[in-house]
Amino acid sequence: MSKLIVANWKANPKTFTEALKLVKASDFENVVIAPPYIYLQTLSWVLKKAALGAQDTFWENAGPYTGEVTPSQIKNLKVKYVIIGHSERRGFGETDEMINKKIKAALKVGLRVILCVGEDWNTRRKGIAAAKQFVGNQLKKDLLETKNLKIKNKNLLIAYEPVWAIGTGKADSAKTSAEMISYIKKILDSRYPSSRAKLATGHSQILKTKVLYGGSVTPKNAKAFLSQPEIDGALVGGASLNQKEFRKIINAQQ
Ligand code: 13P
Repeated sequence: MSKLIVANWKANPKTFTEALKLVKASDFENVVIAPPYIYLQTLSWVLKKAALGAQDTFWENAGPYTGEVTPSQIKNLKVKYVIIGHSERRGFGETDEMINKKIKAALKVGLRVILCVGEDWNTRRKGIAAAKQFVGNQLKKDLLETKNLKIKNKNLLIAYEPVWAIGTGKADSAKTSAEMISYIKKILDSRYPSSRAKLATGHSQILKTKVLYGGSVTPKNAKAFLSQPEIDGALVGGASLNQKEFRKIINAQQ
């Protein structure tokens, strides 16, 4: 199964010319580019192989909400994915309740949601059990009442991004993040048992939601993450802004 590499450009680059150059160099299958909203429309005309993602959305589809961009507006631009609940947004005061509303609104219009979860260092320094509890709680709150939306596997993705690993150059270890990702998959499987498909043999196969790792992914460590069977891809920040580095990360799964 090919792994998914998602580029989260955050509030970069400064000019459209740079964005155009970068996107052309990142246009490959199984790649998602999430640029700032302002570049989405034009980049959608340029991309041939990669898919586009938004970095956030709102929970209503239209109305008097100054500064917001809605799920249906994003969907109508032929954008496939939307990142929701990134820790940088949580840092601006976004609550689990807001994230939950955004997820439901995005899923309803058929966007593929990449929900970001992950613990801070204060939690992680107490050990992996504390981190699991923290992430389990986030999932429970963020995915509240989503069961009845009949989520298709491909429409819900999770990115495990330990907050302390984001932009710090201190990535989690491939082994520990794989352990956390198996735990996330176990939780999802118990929430969405419909993802179990009966094989011809009579055994059931779990069709798991894709769970990605994010946090200081670089060309140096990408292979270690992507070679873990539990890890279905990577969410890349800083290194996705450098053409050469991003290309190496894409190639690391081959
Ligand atoms: P960095 O790859 O820069 O650590 O950022 C990770 C991230 O936040 C992706 O969403």
